[in-house]
Amino acid sequence: MALPAQFMDELRRRLPIATVIGRTVKLARSGRERKGCCPFHGEKTPSFYVYDDHYHCFGCGEHGDVITFVMKTTGCSFMEAVEELAAQAGLEVPKPSPQAAEAEKRRADLADVLAMAASTYARWLYEPQGREALAYLHRRGLLDETIRRFGLGWSGEGRGQLAAALRGHDVRPEQLSEAGLMKRGEQGPVDMFFGRVMFPIRDRKGGLISFGGRVLGDGQPKYVNGPETPVFAKRRALYGLNSAYEAVRRGREKLIVVEGYMDVISLAQAGFGGAVAPLGTALTEEHLDEIWRLTPEPVICFDGDKAGQRAALKTIEIALAKLDSGKGLRFLALPPKDDPDSLVKREGPQAFARALEGAKPLSEVMYDMVKSAMGAETPEARASLRQHLIDMAGRIPDKGLGSEYRALLLERFFAERRARQTPFTPRGGGRRAMAGGFAPPTIALPPRPEPDVAAADHKRARLMLATLLEFPTLFHDLEEAFAHVGLDEEGEALRAALHEFAAGHGVLDRQNLLTHLKAHDLDAVAGRVQAAAASDFRFAPDASPSEAQDVWWSWFTMMTSSLDALRADRDSAETDWKSRMDDLAAWEKLKKYNELLSRALRGETGAPEG
Ligand code: UTP
Ligand code: MN
Repeated sequence: MALPAQFMDELRRRLPIATVIGRTVKLARSGRERKGCCPFHGEKTPSFYVYDDHYHCFGCGEHGDVITFVMKTTGCSFMEAVEELAAQAGLEVPKPSPQAAEAEKRRADLADVLAMAASTYARWLYEPQGREALAYLHRRGLLDETIRRFGLGWSGEGRGQLAAALRGHDVRPEQLSEAGLMKRGEQGPVDMFFGRVMFPIRDRKGGLISFGGRVLGDGQPKYVNGPETPVFAKRRALYGLNSAYEAVRRGREKLIVVEGYMDVISLAQAGFGGAVAPLGTALTEEHLDEIWRLTPEPVICFDGDKAGQRAALKTIEIALAKLDSGKGLRFLALPPKDDPDSLVKREGPQAFARALEGAKPLSEVMYDMVKSAMGAETPEARASLRQHLIDMAGRIPDKGLGSEYRALLLERFFAERRARQTPFTPRGGGRRAMAGGFAPPTIALPPRPEPDVAAADHKRARLMLATLLEFPTLFHDLEEAFAHVGLDEEGEALRAALHEFAAGHGVLDRQNLLTHLKAHDLDAVAGRVQAAAASDFRFAPDASPSEAQDVWWSWFTMMTSSLDALRADRDSAETDWKSRMDDLAAWEKLKKYNELLSRALRGETGAPEG
């Protein structure tokens, strides 16, 4: 009886081969493998090697998997060996049932159908109908050798072409549907793939499980992947794993997780045979399990764009929850517009190899990510940063490892803090540092203290507005904070005009602004606001925009209400990001608010820039 593949996989997962063999053979680690003296022939020096899924004796040539081992050492039958191992693993051997036999048969048929489709697609690529597709692949720099190695093909133009080609092999259309090669259309089944370059997807052992198809050029969707079938589960499958497997297992290649089909292929052609990619999903727990079974420290190399960053955050989040000793990750960050394919093509294999050497360990990436969100400019920011680092380490379930991470993250935190505390010479000269290492306010020149808080706030708001009218180039940097400043009706009208102006102009110069205000009949109002402000505060005639900006922040800080509003926004951004680490927008918002807040607080304390 054929046993279901799922049961066999589970059995192997629960009873690693080294555990079983280790009971009768004394094994010692040798690199990634274990070795010992062969139980099948007498020997004194070990030449019997145990790998992740099989054993091999270089002395007598015996080899096999865990079941063969039990059969050969105890002389039992296949089923007896399975029964014995299942009992040890706490599994029940599935009873032979007609349904099980039928399911097994269907899977085998499916594999045949997929194999026939793959060879048909591959043949079509080199026929006249595949000319354009082949030219496309060549244009993308793929060699024929690479095309063959990955079994790439051409789908044909559809309309039942595949079904017609396979009819001669007794393949029925229902089988094509079950294999994910046809789908239901309005008038009967239609081809899943047409007008596409075909990428066969294989499991770890090289068995075909599905296909992906890419349009030639810029059409949408760019890729179509086969649907879930009895043999294809996207949350488990990794493109390229079959070819990467042996090389990575033997330590010849580093395992690199990339985002796309073309990245895997292009890296392989450039000599990096260890690349794999998920298929149109983020990296899942199951993917990580599979990868970690193969290698202790894979390199994650996602695209340099936002999607790639988000994927990296998500991966960190999943990984933290599964981390234990002996499992790590490294991250290779790419330039914003690159993916591994474009990088290796432009810069060459050596450059990519160097980049790979520089891939950062998980702990460093975590630190950088949290620090860029929280900032470290002000004491407040540093306190948040420190707490966040502790929280991150706390997500690791293995307590021992969690405290290692915590120590590592905090060590760097304190090292950087010490580095900041090296003595500095205050700008402007002659100012003494106060306790805590901060200089007194640099250029904050608030209006004279007013008994009436509301009136003072009103005056500051007008000053801030007048400053923006005077230095419109500052608006992009200040608009978010300025939105928190309360203004009267006139002020609101000017603020709205400023927003509109900034949205429509690349260069925010005074002349353009004046034209814009005139067009809205606001030039007179603006003039009045500026004149009134000038009686309270006047910039030096040669004041630079950045000096003006510092003064602006010092006013902002004095308006407690605006600072509180900014703090509240920052806190809610933090809560958002904490609840979902891969929420890139929340991460960026938090970063932005922390920057604003730290500017505002620097204005308050006059702390030097770090
Ligand atoms: P990419 O667009 O980064 O893939 O999408 P790529 O391999 O770099 O593409 P090209 O050929 O160089 O332009 C990454 C992966 O996301 C999935 C595919 O698995 C793809 O390889 N994807 C992408 C889809 O499933 N559908 C799409 O429409 C786009
Ligand atoms: Mn690409």
